[in-house]
Amino acid sequence: MKLHQKSFILTGATSGMGRAIALDFAKEGANLILSGRDEERGKSLLAEIKANGGEACFLSGDVGDIQYNKKMVDLAISSFGQLDGLVTNAGMLGLGSVTELEPSDWDITFRTNVDSVFYLLKFALPEMLKRPSAAVVVNSSIAAYKSFPNHPAYCASKAALLALAKQTAVDYGPIVRVNTICPGPVDTPFIHASAIAFPDPAQAVANAGKATLLKRLGLPADISKLALFLASDDSSWITGSAFTIDGGILAAG
Ligand SMILES: NC(=O)c1ccc[n+]([C@@H]2O[C@H](COP(=O)([O-])OP(=O)(O)OC[C@H]3O[C@@H](n4cnc5c(N)ncnc54)[C@H](OP(=O)(O)O)[C@@H]3O)[C@@H](O)[C@H]2O)c1
Repeated sequence: MKLHQKSFILTGATSGMGRAIALDFAKEGANLILSGRDEERGKSLLAEIKANGGEACFLSGDVGDIQYNKKMVDLAISSFGQLDGLVTNAGMLGLGSVTELEPSDWDITFRTNVDSVFYLLKFALPEMLKRPSAAVVVNSSIAAYKSFPNHPAYCASKAALLALAKQTAVDYGPIVRVNTICPGPVDTPFIHASAIAFPDPAQAVANAGKATLLKRLGLPADISKLALFLASDDSSWITGSAFTIDGGILAAG
């Protein structure tokens, strides 16, 4: 098992990619602190993991709340005695062009997508530095590189994550490895919410799949395999890097 006796905090675990990552990490022996706001989905995920013999705790809360991030780290230590890594995956869209967006919309998008990662790193790093090695996987997006109509807050926040991850890799290597995943269009509730910014949302989702070189939307399981690789010792000489996983949509131009 690739994550045997390692403990991870995973945000955005209650849906989409986070759910797939939770199930794959648990199968590989990780002890997990699962984060999300939806208690029902969180508890059902927890039950599934435990039924399969996995170890996990669910702590509901808003990743934009500083103290919630501290509680996740405290829970990892009180439950498992150590913290070996993070997958920062929770995110929101904050749709609207610059003239439409209220400063409060901009703030909440950055608080959820970027400030939350800073908060979690701030509390988690002192614990991870006590371990022989640790791995952080940050979920950004191809939106860090590519523009989408009416997504300025989202695209800017995802680009900020690239710099934050790289900087953290510089400051906390060699013990802590930090890498970023940049998914293209993946079939989760998120992409359907994002498509609202287009005149025909259903068509926009279908077009996103067709625009990839592999002619389909990504699946949460496609992303969890990369997250697992980057969290495990299989990637022990990889840090400060960003990986697009997008069916080739960026290459297609
Ligand atoms: N789907 C795509 O095409 C795509 C492409 C590139 C990147 N991404 C990124 O991938 C990540 C996962 O997205 P997904 O597609 O799997 O979407 P999803 O199914 O909608 O899941 C989003 C997750 O984030 C959590 N979340 C959002 N805001 C939160 C907050 N303030 N506090 C705590 N948890 C919060 C949600 O929890 P609750 O539901 O419990 O609130 C949920 O678990 C996001 O960061 C997204 O930007 C998605």
